Amino acid sequence: MEFRDLKTQYQKLRNDIDAGIADVINSSHYISGPQVAELEKNLAAYTKRTHCISCANGTDALEIALRAMNVKKGDAVFVPSFTFMSTAEVVSLLDAHPVFVDIDLTTFNMDPDSLKNAIERVTHDGIWTPKVVIPVDIFGLPADFDKILPIATQYGLNVLEDGAQGFGGKIREKMACSFGDISTTSFFPAKPLGCYGDGGAIFTDNDEWAALITSICVHGKGHEKYENIRIGRNSRLDTIQAAILLPKLRAFAQYEVAEVNRVAAHYSSRLKNRYRIPTVPEGCLSSWAQYTILCESSAIRSKLQASLKEQGIPSMIYYPRGLHQQQAFAALDYKSLDLPNTATACERVLSLPMHPYMTADNIDFVCDALLK
Ligand SMILES: Cc1ncc(COP(=O)(O)O)c(C=O)c1O
Repeated sequence: MEFRDLKTQYQKLRNDIDAGIADVINSSHYISGPQVAELEKNLAAYTKRTHCISCANGTDALEIALRAMNVKKGDAVFVPSFTFMSTAEVVSLLDAHPVFVDIDLTTFNMDPDSLKNAIERVTHDGIWTPKVVIPVDIFGLPADFDKILPIATQYGLNVLEDGAQGFGGKIREKMACSFGDISTTSFFPAKPLGCYGDGGAIFTDNDEWAALITSICVHGKGHEKYENIRIGRNSRLDTIQAAILLPKLRAFAQYEVAEVNRVAAHYSSRLKNRYRIPTVPEGCLSSWAQYTILCESSAIRSKLQASLKEQGIPSMIYYPRGLHQQQAFAALDYKSLDLPNTATACERVLSLPMHPYMTADNIDFVCDALLK
């Protein structure tokens, strides 16, 4: 069994994907070909944002967004500890200071109260300047923007939504990647919308930021060819990846998001009496980057994972430790920082196979193994 079955997806979409790749090769327009602009237009329409700028990956997307927000040395950026490395790594790359925040254990998303406490603590200490908050749409569920956006407004912070896992989710009718002053996503192959390599995108409604981001992505370009008006990056989405994403986005919008929600509902109905199943708050839709249960203990999780493996069922631990405990951030001396929900999640989470092409039999096979 595949954890995320990209092979079946390819078989379904093969004609369009192969034709798209062939078109790019026949045209030899490998960089900034017309498929890139078409994809950006479709992504902006899907998320209902004014601008979408594609780039090389989701980590670059975050870093470039922070640069557009003028984040620099001395600034504090608030990030959940329970996330992938990129969310905080980019803060350190810009010499700013990541401040780690706890999560809500029912959604695994940033806890607004913990955010508020962290902002007040940093403000009180007076060493760093609170600048940006990066809520992550973890496992496909949009962060608690109903509570986080007013907090950001209250303290004058910009919001950068890390929608690497959240693309396709919603709160009421508002799409993931439309909540931040700037939002980003990743097209890493296993993401809800993935390409066949690395890729990413940046979303905003702000014209000035969009122009700045476009420039940063291409060596700080100006209006004329070989005019460089700032130090930028080389961060572009390959035309081939855009050609692959065009039919994948159509399938994603037409049926894949609905299908992962079918899979999640099936899992939940069978597992709810025995496991802590993932919670989707009223009015929210998840794009199910992961379907993650909370085991009773770390020891039970190890046993479960081993027995699933024996039956050929892959499972993953996202994430085994909080970022504040990663050696990479040791210099920030966060060892004694107490983030109890992050600690609990790291000890007990287990992510199960999840993708739009899982059959009812596949799901029952996983559930039978877990219920035994
Ligand atoms: C929450 C989160 N942010 C950022 C990234 C970075 O994306 P990429 O791998 O495309 O650089 C990822 C995934 O890999 C992620 O899960």
